[in-house]
Amino acid sequence: MKAALIHKVGPPNNIRIEEIARPKPKKTEVLIRVGAVSVNPIDTYIRGGANYFPLPDPYIVGCDLAGTVVERGAEVTRFSIGDRVWGSNQGIFGRQGTFAEYASVDSEWLYDTPAEVRDETAAAQALVGITAHLGLFQRGELQPGEIVMVNGGSGAVGSTVIQLARAHGGRVIATAGSQEKCDACRDWGAEWVIDYRQSDITEQVRRFAPDGVDLFWDTNREPDLERNIGMLARFGRMILMAGRDARPAFPVGPFYSKSCTLHGLIMFAASANQQRLCGDAISRDLASGVLMPRIDRVLPLSEAAEAHQLQENATVHCQGGLFGKIVLVP
Ligand SMILES: NC(=O)c1ccc[n+]([C@@H]2O[C@H](COP(=O)([O-])OP(=O)(O)OC[C@H]3O[C@@H](n4cnc5c(N)ncnc54)[C@H](OP(=O)(O)O)[C@@H]3O)[C@@H](O)[C@H]2O)c1
Repeated sequence: MKAALIHKVGPPNNIRIEEIARPKPKKTEVLIRVGAVSVNPIDTYIRGGANYFPLPDPYIVGCDLAGTVVERGAEVTRFSIGDRVWGSNQGIFGRQGTFAEYASVDSEWLYDTPAEVRDETAAAQALVGITAHLGLFQRGELQPGEIVMVNGGSGAVGSTVIQLARAHGGRVIATAGSQEKCDACRDWGAEWVIDYRQSDITEQVRRFAPDGVDLFWDTNREPDLERNIGMLARFGRMILMAGRDARPAFPVGPFYSKSCTLHGLIMFAASANQQRLCGDAISRDLASGVLMPRIDRVLPLSEAAEAHQLQENATVHCQGGLFGKIVLVP
């Protein structure tokens, strides 16, 4: 089978398309004929040498996938041959990634793809959907009527947070970096949208939420905690989930005196059971139309290196050029 893989960490053009043996599913795994995969920023960090865990050689890149079960291990009961599934959490902790014609994945990381949902859509929603769900509901305990602030509402995570928060009865404020992206945030359900390039965020948030924000979700890799905590309401919660190298000053006084809570979130740390709650809910939300990920472009798997470069330029180097997920098809 063809796979997009690396033998050595480094720049995007280290990714090669090579012919390798099709994996054989172990007892609890299913073999999936991959219909679509999507790129996440973490794919580029791992490929670039972030060294979060040892990588096999060759290492197939990619966390997310959607496709069809073509073979199953002896102990798999959850899925049958022909089932359409999607999943994430691959390419980490010694597991191979997903950017290949076939992937063998433990069934604990897989969820049903609704009949009316395309593989491209399910793959695009995978990691970012689970992240948004974990943060809003399992960690942030969002209640209907609460005010949610999404810094980076136009991004892949942020756009999902807006849609899920709105569907749960949250009142959403979002930031974005252009008129087109602000309009999209409104379409996804944000009631108050701030162009962070044009307006003072603190002043704008105060106008919509004079008593503060109940749940502040920051997707920014350099979060401004002085500003964020200033915007929190009494008993406000903040989700931080980006910026491994960020070391911002933390304003203790305004934080504790409002009885606030801070949640660090890394989706990979959630157990398979915790992720399943999210995955099954996301399948339902995709089927009902509550969730619709924005796809920037669909590329052939052979352009995996170009896709990594695009994602890195946009998310790491803040050069723009993307509005939505990059999906690849084998
Ligand atoms: N902890 C976890 O489990 C987890 C899971 C998924 C992702 N992440 C991390 O979360 C981050 C976002 O991921 P993503 O996939 O959503 O990336 P993305 O699609 O590239 O989105 C980045 C967002 O940041 C916004 N942005 C850029 N500069 C900004 C600024 N100065 N002020 C406010 N917003 C700004 C962008 O807005 P415009 O495009 O409108 O300018 C866009 O909305 C990445 O660092 C990723 O590694 C973490």
